Amino acid sequence: MKVGYIQTSPIFGEKEQNFEEVRSLLKDVHADLLVLPELFATGYAFTSTEEAVSFAEDVEGKTAVFLKEISKMTGAAIVAGFVEKEGDHIYNSSLIVSDGIILDTYRKIHLFNKEKLWFSPGDKPLKVHEINGAKIGVMICFDWMFPEVTRTLALQGMQILAHPSNLVMPYCQKAMVTRCLENRVFAVTSNRIGTEYRGDDNFTFTGASQITGIDGSVLASSPTDQTSVTIVEIDVSLADNKMINEYNDVSKDRRTEFFHL
Ligand code: ACM
Repeated sequence: MKVGYIQTSPIFGEKEQNFEEVRSLLKDVHADLLVLPELFATGYAFTSTEEAVSFAEDVEGKTAVFLKEISKMTGAAIVAGFVEKEGDHIYNSSLIVSDGIILDTYRKIHLFNKEKLWFSPGDKPLKVHEINGAKIGVMICFDWMFPEVTRTLALQGMQILAHPSNLVMPYCQKAMVTRCLENRVFAVTSNRIGTEYRGDDNFTFTGASQITGIDGSVLASSPTDQTSVTIVEIDVSLADNKMINEYNDVSKDRRTEFFHL
């Protein structure tokens, strides 16, 4: 199975230009799963709730329509971030799209920094989607800080974690090695590059998007300052084997009677 990411450099507020960047990066690309960054079409550093709301869409909005096109063009399931509006709430969400159909959204459950001012925290359960022959789970960026997210998805049979991100701290790429190793799952972390100086925020996004293997090996890693498209071939069924040696199964060996989780 071919899985990959694109690492983009979005221009704040310029949806059409950001779509065009993705379209041109994905020209002639064919894969089974492609992950795009968090909030790839809008940029990240909103300065007010009103501004964030002005970019919000439902699952029939422009971003959904664009991702349907991209899923048809590449043959891939697409997981990509957007500002989701439902009723009076907006969420930092990802669309999950396959073959021109919107399958679901995931709403980020651990909001980072000022995201707490504009977004409502995710209110949907963590869920594994069977797409293109693989069991795919989704988390967004700062969810990495909470190992329970990956664990919960892994216990539901997830083989690949799709992880749209806008990373600004230097820890996540290293942490994903542990997340994958301790759960024996693959992860595709799609990050962005560039800077956003807006209001009193000054963000430099760290790039270095990464595909991590079930043994914590880094299967692919991008530069910190260039856009890229990266695809690797993996055998997803390896994620079903939780044995790290003849005696240790990282799922069954958990002594849940000692945990208060
Ligand atoms: C983040 O969650 N975008 C750091």
